[in-house]
Amino acid sequence: MVKIAVLVSGGGTNLQALIDAEAAGNIKNGEICAVVASRPDAYAITRAKQAFIPTYVMRRRDYGSAEAYGEALGDLLEQLGIGLVVLAGFMTVLSDAFCRRFQNRIINVHPSLIPSFCGEGFYGLRVHEAALQKGVKVTGATVHFVSEVVDGGEIIAQKAVAVQPGDTPEVLQKRVMREAEWVLLPRAVSQFCEGRITVQDGVVYIAAADDDENEGENR
Ligand code: GAR
Repeated sequence: MVKIAVLVSGGGTNLQALIDAEAAGNIKNGEICAVVASRPDAYAITRAKQAFIPTYVMRRRDYGSAEAYGEALGDLLEQLGIGLVVLAGFMTVLSDAFCRRFQNRIINVHPSLIPSFCGEGFYGLRVHEAALQKGVKVTGATVHFVSEVVDGGEIIAQKAVAVQPGDTPEVLQKRVMREAEWVLLPRAVSQFCEGRITVQDGVVYIAAADDDENEGENR
């Protein structure tokens, strides 16, 4: 069983999608064992407590540098025996050393089709504001491994979502979450825990599940 830590900073709807998926038996061979919040007031903490998941608060400002923060966070996760780190709306950029320490064991969900609207400064509602400003007709979400390059790690899954006339950033954000993020993230987490994800030359391959005749490579 892979022990999962979910890192959060805000509302935690993606955390909720993971909690619900686990309760429904859809996270195969994985268990959410810890929720780490970068803010003490994150509503995600309440969601974790309601699901009886141990919570930890680690604020970046309590550490002298990103490196010190990453080291303390890494030590905590290692002590807990964590095998997969999920960034679910985690708004603190992690140190290079942390990314290397958990290489190919950190998954992030990003609310756009990478490589569009991603990288430093593109997070949360800002991503949707930028998409609407550009006038794209299709946006979506991406689940990817985390590397030292912000939003630059290997892509695990993507789903397109239509932009509708009259969308506000808030309305678009909600649609992207509902149609893409809450679907893709639990599925990718399960695939990881089942040992079905491999990375080769910067490309992710997903093996078909034993019990899923319809699911081919790369889906
Ligand atoms: C989600 O839309 C997530 O994709 C985004 O923040 C939101 C968190 O919502 N993450 C990023 O922008 C990371 N670059 P949640 O707290 O309700 O899951």
